[in-house]
Amino acid sequence: MILSRIAKKLTRSNGIQSLMEDLGSAWSGSTENIAFLGGGNPTRIPEAETIYRKSVESILTSGKSLESLLGDYTSPVGSDETRQLTAEYLGKFFGTTLQGNQIAFFNGSQNAYSFLLNSFSGTMEDGSFKRILLPVIPEYIGYADQTWEEDVFFANLPIIENIGPNRFRYKLNKENIAWETIGCIALSRPTNPTGNVMDMEDLEWLYQESRKNDLPLLIDLAYGNPFPNLIGQKEPIQWKPGMVLSLSFSKVGLPGVRLGIIIADTEIISVLSSFAAVGNLAVGNWGQALAKSFWKEDTLIGISNHILRPYYGNKLQIALEIIEEIFAKYKVQYTIHEPEGGFFLWIHFPNLPISNIELYQTCKKENVYIVSGHYFFPGLKTQFSHTEECIRLTYCRDRKEIARGAEIIARIVSRTAK
Ligand SMILES: Cc1ncc(COP(=O)(O)O)c(C=O)c1O
Repeated sequence: MILSRIAKKLTRSNGIQSLMEDLGSAWSGSTENIAFLGGGNPTRIPEAETIYRKSVESILTSGKSLESLLGDYTSPVGSDETRQLTAEYLGKFFGTTLQGNQIAFFNGSQNAYSFLLNSFSGTMEDGSFKRILLPVIPEYIGYADQTWEEDVFFANLPIIENIGPNRFRYKLNKENIAWETIGCIALSRPTNPTGNVMDMEDLEWLYQESRKNDLPLLIDLAYGNPFPNLIGQKEPIQWKPGMVLSLSFSKVGLPGVRLGIIIADTEIISVLSSFAAVGNLAVGNWGQALAKSFWKEDTLIGISNHILRPYYGNKLQIALEIIEEIFAKYKVQYTIHEPEGGFFLWIHFPNLPISNIELYQTCKKENVYIVSGHYFFPGLKTQFSHTEECIRLTYCRDRKEIARGAEIIARIVSRTAK
């Protein structure tokens, strides 16, 4: 069988695939002795699930909507009515007035990104070749394999700030960006994998550059404001022309619904709508129905601020305490990226004598699943020790699982230390 180049590219082992395979094999056997610290699944929180159940039940019992939900295609990026209601509802959280034609729904924000990244990178209509600027890497694993053309990412070495014992932070490096080769800018805020929440002044600098160079500025708010709002004390994003914001229902605890929302200028929404018509025919109906119900009841804001933020804040503190105690016991040399938001801990082991891929493989043999950090640096051409010395862990697991995982990681790292 001869495969196309794009099929070949996708079937090469990539980060997302290895993560999803781990998830599958970990869950298919006994889970008793497994520490699954790899995935990005939100925690199932019964308090939030009860509220979601009520929303679904009210949709099921209201008039004819179930038949229409099951029996009708909607438009490629959602019904006009739901888009308009969404614009009116979300505008106030982004400090602006939005219109329905500035909103588009997709089957997950991952689905939206595959269209966005391919709209603004690769071979352009004038024959030029443009890249996607990832302003601070490490960046989300899910962008890397989405593009149909090769070598489309551009990334600079980040600045590293040491901000306390065993804590550091990546910061935007404004030097040496080849603006004339860039087609768009993409960042997640908070960033998966590091938990970085980009400072407002850096974001404003990027925004001004994006306007000067006529580039869309894509900001992925999967973990950001207004839901699930896991941004700690950092300032929320406000929408401005030229920005493309993406929201997701996944990290509030509804990854099975597959709903992503894009907020952008109408010109960009109409490009995305063409992609959606060809690639999806239409976005699914359940997510839109839930959106309408959520906006009416202000559901997600309440859940985010009163359930998710306290829950994840508490989980994070517990995980940090466990990891710090165990790493100290084994005298592990490490620093953790300041966890400002999101679900993950990004850990750097300076002078790690094995690579992070070998660390991942050794941990896996002991039923501890982590994600090797090497996946998260697309577009970086400069040598950088962090590409081989970092790992990502989710902190959304229970105490015992985190302790077991931390103990095994600490044992392996200290055993192999120089
Ligand atoms: C930063 C980020 N963006 C986007 C996504 C995709 O989310 P979904 O397609 O479920 O909306 C994820 C999922 O893990 C993510 O971590």
